[in-house]
Amino acid sequence: MAFELIVVGGGRMGSALVEGLLRAKWCEPHDLAIVEAATEQRESLTARFSGVTILASLELGHVGPTTGVVLSVKPDHAEAALRVVATTGATRVLSVVAGLSTSRIESHFHAPVAVIRSMPNTPVLVGQGVSAISGGAQVTKDDLDWAESILGAVGIVVRVTERNIDAVTGLSGSGPAYFYLVVEALIDAGVHQGLTRDVSRQLVVGTFVGSAVLLESSGESPEELRAQVTSPGGTTAAGLRMLEGRAVRAAFLEAVSAATERSRQLGR
Ligand SMILES: NC(=O)c1ccc[n+]([C@@H]2O[C@H](COP(=O)([O-])OP(=O)(O)OC[C@H]3O[C@@H](n4cnc5c(N)ncnc54)[C@H](OP(=O)(O)O)[C@@H]3O)[C@@H](O)[C@H]2O)c1
Repeated sequence: MAFELIVVGGGRMGSALVEGLLRAKWCEPHDLAIVEAATEQRESLTARFSGVTILASLELGHVGPTTGVVLSVKPDHAEAALRVVATTGATRVLSVVAGLSTSRIESHFHAPVAVIRSMPNTPVLVGQGVSAISGGAQVTKDDLDWAESILGAVGIVVRVTERNIDAVTGLSGSGPAYFYLVVEALIDAGVHQGLTRDVSRQLVVGTFVGSAVLLESSGESPEELRAQVTSPGGTTAAGLRMLEGRAVRAAFLEAVSAATERSRQLGR
């Protein structure tokens, strides 16, 4: 039996996608299959996704002329998984595998294949991710729309040229870690000023989430929102002056630059 979509690799990323697709009613559960090599993980997927077919391996009959394949295995397993996908006659592949180029994926196939490469980030696990997509040599607008509809079930999607995927990796791929570092540092700062860790954590996480929602919903720029809490000669101005003195902006610029360069190196 051929499926509409087959997700190869039912780990954190693959299962987050399936959850988003079912929530968005992208298709019926019986249209979906997950291929997962690990027995224990298969059992957990079976319990979690009623009606979705959980397979130990991908076979010829699973892929029809219109079947799409999502590749969501760890980079170390990607080549082996692709060799199998290529033998099934799949014609459309969306990969979330970091560092794997569209041309590398295409090289496994002997017939034309539409390959879309993407870079999602961890908030896709809660349906609030950002993903960038870029198409390979044989991709049409329909293929990109298809990929966007899948990743759009777990967050927002932007289109970039493949050349920019490393920058996306260094910015939004690694981005959650930058924000978590800031959150950790602020919680410690609250403790330094005499707050309990628990109270400091509640205040910082609440400020972080609230500021993000305000930024997104108000339509105002970060500069405008920052100016609203910065009275002349006031407390925030004193704090910001210290951050600017420590070159925090330059530090973020260099962090994204280093992460982008590292992504380039890993992809080579
Ligand atoms: N997590 C993120 O935030 C994030 C962000 C951007 C990109 N990515 C990319 O997404 C991909 C998946 O990451 P993840 O965090 O979801 O990893 P993960 O949780 O380890 O999931 C990978 C899954 O694929 C399974 N698998 C391995 N080889 C397979 C095969 N040949 N056929 C079928 N299933 C196979 C693994 O099983 P075993 O445990 O048995 O190996 C595992 O369950 C990675 O390439 C990563 O670069 C992840």
